[in-house]
Amino acid sequence: MPIKTSDARKSKTFLLMLKKIAVRGIRRRNTLYSGKMFEVLDRLIDQRLKQRQEHGCSISTESKDTLDTLLNIIQEKSVEFDTKHIKHLLADLFIAGNDTTSITLEWAMAELLHNPKVLSKAKLELKQTVGKGSPIDESDIARLPYLQAVVKETFRLHPAVPLLIPRKASEGVEIASVTVPKGAQVFVNVWAIGRDENIWDNPHSFKPERFLGSDVDFKGQNFELIPFGAGRRICPGLPLAIRMLYLMLGSLINSFDWKLEDESMDMKEKFGLTIQKAKPLRAVTIAI
Ligand code: HEM
Repeated sequence: MPIKTSDARKSKTFLLMLKKIAVRGIRRRNTLYSGKMFEVLDRLIDQRLKQRQEHGCSISTESKDTLDTLLNIIQEKSVEFDTKHIKHLLADLFIAGNDTTSITLEWAMAELLHNPKVLSKAKLELKQTVGKGSPIDESDIARLPYLQAVVKETFRLHPAVPLLIPRKASEGVEIASVTVPKGAQVFVNVWAIGRDENIWDNPHSFKPERFLGSDVDFKGQNFELIPFGAGRRICPGLPLAIRMLYLMLGSLINSFDWKLEDESMDMKEKFGLTIQKAKPLRAVTIAI
């Protein structure tokens, strides 16, 4: 049925109103939550400055963490830098590092519970290497090739930032007979690269074995696996993220047995700037 002009105009107005309300809602929540985050960061910085005053030293000679190092820079006055810069820098790190790491951990656990044979192999490696139920140390990681392969396979199928951060071509360039004009915005579809049949055997199966004895790594040198990006803007949090993932995932499966709350787990994805599990993983622990 043809839509009358007046109806079309009404729908357009209605959609514009909805858009405005939705944007206002997001903006309001954004302001509320970022305000809360900044309060926490302000408190943290103030506490540390107070501690330094109480100890009668403006500069900590024994730098303990990132915040101490940054406060030293202010107090040395070597560069123009103040607590506002520190607050925003910490906020950047918090935003960029939080969601990405927890999303990857959730996918890794979901894939392990979805593939019990893979989970058993990972648990056996941990049992033989660090001992069942024992805490995992950073120095153990090099001796856990199967756990490393599980994490790589998780990055291949579930890169937390599926299109990386958009790029803009500073010059016109031809890549693989495609012309990218100057100024074009370029998205790198890492999610699709990870599922490309021309690159990966049986790309939709979760098979960490494909990385055993392979040199392919996620550090920006192998373009078939770039969950952290590559080049000058590669994720600066990579070394931290990867250590946290090995330690958290290893500890979770070495210290507990796990059972899915619902055996028919839904593995659907929810696309956005990051790619989350559409339905959060629900699993219960059985202490061992
Ligand atoms: C599994 C965890 C993580 C993944 C998958 C990830 C992924 C990424 C990706 C894809 C980019 C864009 C790179 C590009 O476009 O080439 C990026 C940028 C960035 N990441 Fe991460 N990240 C993770 C954890 C972290 C952590 C833990 C931190 C900090 C504590 C962090 C801090 C940053 C920052 C500051 C940028 C922006 C860098 C720039 O624009 O120059 N990330 N990350």
